[in-house]
Amino acid sequence: MEGQRRAAFVALVRGDAMAVARVGQLDARVAVDRMRMAVEDGSLGQNALKEDRELLLEVLGQLADPADHLYRQLNLKITPDTQLAYTNTKVLEKPTPLTSGSFASVFALKVENADGVAQDSVFKPLKATEEGWVGKWSGIPMDDPQVAIRNIATLSCAKKLGLDVIADTRLALIDTGRGPLDPDLGLLMERAPGKQARNADADWFKNPAVFAEVTKLQLLDHLTGQVDRHDNNYFIDVGPNGDVKVTGIDNDQCFGKDLLSPSDIRPLRRLPFHGTALPPVIDTAMAAMIDALEDDELHAMLDNQLSDDEVDATVSRLQGLRLHVDQLRSQGLVIEPAQWADPAMQARFTAQNSYIGRERTTHQVF
Ligand SMILES: Nc1ncnc2c1ncn2[C@@H]1O[C@H](COP(=O)(O)OP(=O)(O)OP(=O)(O)O)[C@@H](O)[C@H]1O
Ligand SMILES: [Mg+2]
Repeated sequence: MEGQRRAAFVALVRGDAMAVARVGQLDARVAVDRMRMAVEDGSLGQNALKEDRELLLEVLGQLADPADHLYRQLNLKITPDTQLAYTNTKVLEKPTPLTSGSFASVFALKVENADGVAQDSVFKPLKATEEGWVGKWSGIPMDDPQVAIRNIATLSCAKKLGLDVIADTRLALIDTGRGPLDPDLGLLMERAPGKQARNADADWFKNPAVFAEVTKLQLLDHLTGQVDRHDNNYFIDVGPNGDVKVTGIDNDQCFGKDLLSPSDIRPLRRLPFHGTALPPVIDTAMAAMIDALEDDELHAMLDNQLSDDEVDATVSRLQGLRLHVDQLRSQGLVIEPAQWADPAMQARFTAQNSYIGRERTTHQVF
């Protein structure tokens, strides 16, 4: 039994199990176990056909261990990076809908993290297919978009480069309101502090540290081939003592196999990508991070996550980034971090070559 009929049957058995749990005042999982035992010892489904009893057992198995079934449904490989980091037992405050984006529902919740600390988080259930993505034009297959892997690989690249611009992202199995026997497998991220760039204070776009941090995110996106970094897909926080934190969210649409050059994330040839051309200025620390990253390290990190042509395209983008760093260096545009405050440097950032220039244009910062 497949498709809608199977889904309807699963819902029926789930409803039965919930009823058993209610009547017997049992935990829902215990109720499922009792039903399994009853089918196995013949006290339940006695008169059913053998194949129907087998189907019932299979469905009860799925209810008892939904993770396995959901990983298979998403065609998601279980690796140390994709194994479950959070389940309902770590939820301190239940998920509430945060917003409903154009294509996904997103929930706010509080969890106990690995260090035992309460963490404001965001949970985004995963889907097995996608539609309406700009990433389609970068070579991401819509029938198997591997959203989880793209998010996790983005975080790995950020960590490897030492760019602290992506929130910690892990796999989680969470009840978002349909009950304990029908959880979602999804991505659990730290909740980004501050405001989305679109709603940020115009003044922030003059702040030297904001220039530096946003440029870090942009560099990461050139490496990962991120084509969806519009001004709602990253946050900026300027704390009371001036600390600046930039956080990229929604790291779904990246690593498309067709983007061979780091500047391919910009809108070009009428492709509606949300990136820009390469940054006109970077600082010495950023240049050192890019210079230090070797092709082999990218392979070691990404080979068991992405497809071969997706990894090859990433290596190709890294090579393009190295050339860009060399070019900037030869033009004296690899600056010391203190120079981010220089208005002449800031003026080089335009809507075409940088996120910060784009946001300054939108916010009319001159
Ligand atoms: N880690 C996070 N921290 C804070 N807010 C978040 C986070 N993740 C998502 N959000 C909020 O939820 C909204 C939708 O999330 P996300 O962008 O991942 O989904 P989406 O469906 O792809 O949305 P869209 O189509 O608008 O890009 C975001 O615009 C943001 O307001
Ligand atoms: Mg978004």
